[in-house]
Amino acid sequence: MTVEEDSKGRRRWKAPKDARAPIDGRTMGKKEKVRKKTLGKSSRNWVDRQLRDPYVRRAQEAGYRARAAYKLIEIDEKFHVLKKGARIIDLGCAPGGWLQVAFEKGAARIAGVDLLPVDPVGEARIFLGDITEKGMEQKLIAALGDSPTLVLSDMAANTSGHKQTDHIRTVGLAEIAAQFAIDNLAKGGTFVAKVFQGGAQGTLLETLKANFADVRHWKPPASRPESPETFVIATGFKGR
Ligand SMILES: C[S@@+](CC[C@H](N)C(=O)[O-])C[C@H]1O[C@@H](n2cnc3c(N)ncnc32)[C@H](O)[C@@H]1O
Repeated sequence: MTVEEDSKGRRRWKAPKDARAPIDGRTMGKKEKVRKKTLGKSSRNWVDRQLRDPYVRRAQEAGYRARAAYKLIEIDEKFHVLKKGARIIDLGCAPGGWLQVAFEKGAARIAGVDLLPVDPVGEARIFLGDITEKGMEQKLIAALGDSPTLVLSDMAANTSGHKQTDHIRTVGLAEIAAQFAIDNLAKGGTFVAKVFQGGAQGTLLETLKANFADVRHWKPPASRPESPETFVIATGFKGR
């Protein structure tokens, strides 16, 4: 995949014509259709959903690695969180869709981390590991060279099959991301994170309201209606 600049100097991803971009970490194409018969029920459902999903097609055509890219694009269209020259931290960045969007929108510096390996995106510094591991926070900030103006978190716990457990784990990740933002953001900075609707969100919301001038919840159209995920957008970090 290559990067091109359009007539207005905007960065765009150019996928090769025959590309089948990995979407949400898995590839899908003609062969997948053929293999469908041999797949288990949940994998078959996944393939069927991917084939019906217009965001999957759009992501493939635009050269985005994940349909999740459109969640950040839609959040940005509504809240204008991606500013030219921004210093961005992306927590849970694999396979790299949000990194691509941030880079495309003219971020000056980007650093990301994920438990899974991520192919390079522009000049983004990408770390393999757990956000909670010792020294990871320092590595990310050192890679930016300054405090971030935007902290993004699309982190999600691996699904265990038990809804309540997944919910609690993902809320936990959002809390970790919020603390990261509060400890590191530049004054006036922005925090965007995936959270789950309902349940144990109260403490997180209180913390954010105490530290940011404005806190909103929004579910972008690209977020599947059946998914409990929604996003919190906190702007105007008050400073430490
Ligand atoms: C929905 S995906 C992110 C998609 C990404 N925004 C994109 O556009 O490509 C969520 C990611 O969070 C990562 N993750 C979950 N827990 C993590 C942790 N403790 N530290 C780092 N990454 C984590 C997972 O490995 C997974 O790749």
